[in-house]
Amino acid sequence: MKRYLVYLAAAILSACTADILPEKPIDDDSMSRMEPVSIDVRLTTPTTRAVINDSGTGAASFSWENGDEIGIVVNNKYYRFTLSGKSGEETGTFTAELPAGSVIAEGAQVAYPYIAGDYDENTHTFSLTYPTDYTSAKEGDFRHRWAGTLVKDGNSYLAELSHQSAILRITYENVPSEATAVRLTADQDLAGSSKTITTNFSWYASTMNFYFPVPAGTYNSFTIQLLNGSKAIEGTQKTMANGSMVLETGKIYRTPSVSIGPKKILVAYFSFTNTTKSIAESMADILGADIFEITPSEAYTSDNSNYYDDSTRAYKEQYGPATTRPEINTNLSSTDYDIVLLGFPIWYGKVPRVVLSFLDAYSFSGKTVIPFCTSGSSSISASQTELQNTYTDINWKSGARLNGYTADQLKTWLADLGIQNTPFQLSIGGTVFAGELANNATAQAFNSLLPMTLNMSELNGNEKYHYLNSTLPTNAACPGTIQNGDILLYGNNCVVVFYKTFTTSYSYTKIGRITDPSVLEGAVGSGSVAIKFSH
Ligand SMILES: Cc1cc2nc3c(=O)[nH]c(=O)nc-3n(C[C@H](O)[C@H](O)[C@H](O)COP(=O)(O)O)c2cc1C
Repeated sequence: MKRYLVYLAAAILSACTADILPEKPIDDDSMSRMEPVSIDVRLTTPTTRAVINDSGTGAASFSWENGDEIGIVVNNKYYRFTLSGKSGEETGTFTAELPAGSVIAEGAQVAYPYIAGDYDENTHTFSLTYPTDYTSAKEGDFRHRWAGTLVKDGNSYLAELSHQSAILRITYENVPSEATAVRLTADQDLAGSSKTITTNFSWYASTMNFYFPVPAGTYNSFTIQLLNGSKAIEGTQKTMANGSMVLETGKIYRTPSVSIGPKKILVAYFSFTNTTKSIAESMADILGADIFEITPSEAYTSDNSNYYDDSTRAYKEQYGPATTRPEINTNLSSTDYDIVLLGFPIWYGKVPRVVLSFLDAYSFSGKTVIPFCTSGSSSISASQTELQNTYTDINWKSGARLNGYTADQLKTWLADLGIQNTPFQLSIGGTVFAGELANNATAQAFNSLLPMTLNMSELNGNEKYHYLNSTLPTNAACPGTIQNGDILLYGNNCVVVFYKTFTTSYSYTKIGRITDPSVLEGAVGSGSVAIKFSH
């Protein structure tokens, strides 16, 4: 058995030039006999297997782990050497079967990890292409490639490896639990001729760091998106377009972290006979979203909007010139939403013109808008087409006709669109309650304060409250009935957890709710209580 001692310097050097040095010829006879060859590979900077030390220097180091494989070119053939010694150590012993008499010579090309097909035996070069789809088993596990050559170092060899790409590190906070993959898209090729790389991950944490190897070059934009299978999760896409971003081989680039939390969702609807209204209200309640009713300046009446009478106002508007826009009340206070759910009844086969007046009055350019309708029988498809063709700068998602949908059915429909509430938890004494945050600006701001423990005071035998030091955005309304488990904001800084259901005349802004509050009253007790809010 031959043993070669090789030092592996895991330093970032300039990209390796794949020089081919002549190697000692071997006689034909020996080709038929294979014998095991082991080499010791030593690291110059032993650390735990962090894989990447992203302190900003671009330095990287690792210790060997079971299953590690390196590739060495011997006589123009690429051999897989597998770790046969201990893992987690600075020195790893790697073994391969080589033709008898093989010599691992100075200048031999080395690559880590070994990937079959990386080495072209005709051109004597590494291609080191990156996969467009990769499964990552843990943080830091990505398809990275190192390559270099062996140089003589006293009586042994030193392998100097350089990383073969730039690395983009993307941090997501509050990752939704249904996320199974992350996709990176650039304005130029990332792997082969593909502009996208998808990493499926079999691990999960609420804050996740993803590493993408990307070719060195100048990029104008990167877009990242979390996926459930192949389905995009709404609200988890982020585009970084900072002009010309120059990425160099061997360096690590961190992006600003992307925080996935409650979204700001508006349910905007027009309704004449309240069918669409009740669906819209149910939807806003499920999501803890803001709600806005689109109203014409002059209300429709049953006389002037009679479906069966061609001479009525509704008929004339719908069949008038394409530019017809009935005047509306423009009292929506903000368009700062991530998603708009847009509801309407079908009128004469299509979306009522008054809804187009709403889209003309406010700019939802670049926003995600999802239409939904109710109707006697007509589908939403003609309306969807008209909306998409008329408002081309809106990111339209396919909508649906939702007549008779129950709250559970609406929840499923929304979840299928990737729209749901951000989970969080409340720890009260020894009990942990699952909670869900509202999709509004208040819940977003509250979410950014987590984790926090509030000492909450008792009031009226139905609520615990705490005044925060800072204020949160408000959009207060009187809920009429307060539900056991509601978490609401009173004024602009008083967080209230309700543990009974009762009617109220006060106004509050939604923060969230406890999913199952059945044992809440017992847990909070009759006096002050410390409640920890966390993810
Ligand atoms: C003026 C007018 C036109 C209508 N046109 C249609 C139609 O073309 N197709 C259809 O299925 N229902 C049609 N309907 C029925 C409504 O779409 C349906 O009743 C809807 O659910 C009402 O919603 P709302 O209560 O929110 O106004 C029409 C109703 C009115 C008042």
